[in-house]
Amino acid sequence: MRQFIALTCCFLLSAFVHAKKVDDLTYSNYDDVKVSHLYLDLHVDFDNKALKGFAELDLDWKNNKTTQVILDTRDLIIDRVLVKSAENNWHAINHQLATRDDVMGAKLTITPAFQATKIRVYYQSTDKASGLQWLTPAQTAGKKLPYMFSQNQAIHARSWIPIQDTPSVRMTYDARIHTDKQLLAVMSANNEPSAERDGDYFFKMPQAIPPYLIAIAVGDLEFKAMSDITGVYAEPSVLDSAVAEFDDTQAMIDATEKLFGPYRWGRYDLLILPPSFPFGGMENPRLSFITPTVIAGDKSLVNLIAHELAHSWSGNLVTNESWRDLWLNEGFTSYVENRIMEEVFGRKRAVMEQALDAQNLRSLVTRLPANDTVLYVDLQGRDPDAAFSSVPYTKGQLFLMYLEKKLGRGVFDKFIKNYFNEHAFESIGTNTFYQYFTDNLLNKHADILNEADIKEWIFEQGLPAFTPQPTSPVFDVIDNQITQLEQGNISVNQLNNSDWTVHQWLHFLNNLSHTSDLNLMTQLDKQFNLTTSSNNEIAHAWYLLALRSGYDAIYEELQEYLIKIGRRKLIVPLYKHLAVISERLRLGSKSL
Ligand code: BES
Ligand code: ZN
Repeated sequence: MRQFIALTCCFLLSAFVHAKKVDDLTYSNYDDVKVSHLYLDLHVDFDNKALKGFAELDLDWKNNKTTQVILDTRDLIIDRVLVKSAENNWHAINHQLATRDDVMGAKLTITPAFQATKIRVYYQSTDKASGLQWLTPAQTAGKKLPYMFSQNQAIHARSWIPIQDTPSVRMTYDARIHTDKQLLAVMSANNEPSAERDGDYFFKMPQAIPPYLIAIAVGDLEFKAMSDITGVYAEPSVLDSAVAEFDDTQAMIDATEKLFGPYRWGRYDLLILPPSFPFGGMENPRLSFITPTVIAGDKSLVNLIAHELAHSWSGNLVTNESWRDLWLNEGFTSYVENRIMEEVFGRKRAVMEQALDAQNLRSLVTRLPANDTVLYVDLQGRDPDAAFSSVPYTKGQLFLMYLEKKLGRGVFDKFIKNYFNEHAFESIGTNTFYQYFTDNLLNKHADILNEADIKEWIFEQGLPAFTPQPTSPVFDVIDNQITQLEQGNISVNQLNNSDWTVHQWLHFLNNLSHTSDLNLMTQLDKQFNLTTSSNNEIAHAWYLLALRSGYDAIYEELQEYLIKIGRRKLIVPLYKHLAVISERLRLGSKSL
């Protein structure tokens, strides 16, 4: 019995110790020691596609029983490591770089005889860096100078910085970046709009952020202000169209501050990337990274800016502590994004955006493995990039819309505002959120909210039966026209669509039957030039429909589109369909 108790205690104790480390996508022993500040001194070497220099990490010890420090790396060359003692002396020290794991990278271990106050790692990144893209001049808009940018989320910081690569650890950072004089470097830090282009750039980020929000870009960049605290960095030929498209940014900040509290980061600028940028946008603090594929000329896709801006509250201020908790970042952000769109562009447009997203989610949920439809998702050691889907976004948003409807905006907006304020500059997980939610909403509104329903939203698969179903009256009109069209009651030129917005077009294309006859597809294309649409969301929806229904006239344009665009959301569904089609051809079966 005693043995049993001892064993149980031991088990509980070790469970307790390990429970502290919630993120298993990092090798770092961040429960023993935390990096509190990072200094980077890097040379940008376009010829070798490498960043070369050193990273100096300030250490904050949590456990006095160890002196070991473990960092994350991936495809880095580590030249040498120094450690600083409490007496302020630097010592050279051996390091061990483990074999590279496909998902996690290579663990870097150092074991000084004392608890170091700082570590300095001399290193270089390689052309394999998963978090960097190096573009030749030909791959840029200006065609004269090269361009380089980072994308750290989720676990790519380690491919250009030896670091504790987990959203559980927050650090301030400074950096000195050396480049060619003709180029400008910008970072997710205090960019000075008037900075001289001299090839020697200094940055400070005095607010503690997780490593996935450290970001850099170097290119032929110019700046144009939109308001006192907002502006755009872009290649010269893209600058004016970007400023025109995104000139509601200040209004979006004003709207969010009114709803959910102050913007706490100083400036808010946008950096326009080349079209190969793998996302629509990335919420790098003070400087969101934005794909040029949303510059449509009519502001139809600027919810992307509302989204990245919203992360300045949900994500950057209150941060998911592991990638299992991504819905805390993306679900809240999608909800706040839509509230911003309602404030700035009106309810009619905001509801259309809700309805488009909700419909896409409903169809996705039928195709995804059931486990991946849970908000608090189990990543099971998988690469978070592979597990990425719109579930944390739209299911998370629908959950918050459900709460808003039950409680009313008065109560719910106040809750969200307090949630942001009380967890500002913290990294938290689903369980901490759940506890806060229980204390501040569930227990206070037990007459309206039901614990089992809330748990179903967060911890169970699929969409609850009580999921909100946003619909737009203008979409109902379109559904009716689709029916008429497909039954042959009206022809393509009788469609009443002269004033359709991009959102109405998207609803139309998403809801046409996949078995539409080729004749109808040909007429639609002839009448509305869909294959050559300059709106990338419309082009994407049309190409998808065309691939599904075997309308082959798109291929030439589709190829150009796929070569140009890197945004995952706009290309992955197309490649999946192309793979199915090529497999069909390989098998020589037309009936599959
Ligand atoms: N933070 C995300 C991008 C991201 C998520 C990168 C997870 C890596 C892992 C960004 O804010 C985002 O959600 N972008 C969307 C915007 C859209 C929903 C408006 C995108 O790129 O499509
Ligand atoms: Zn996001």
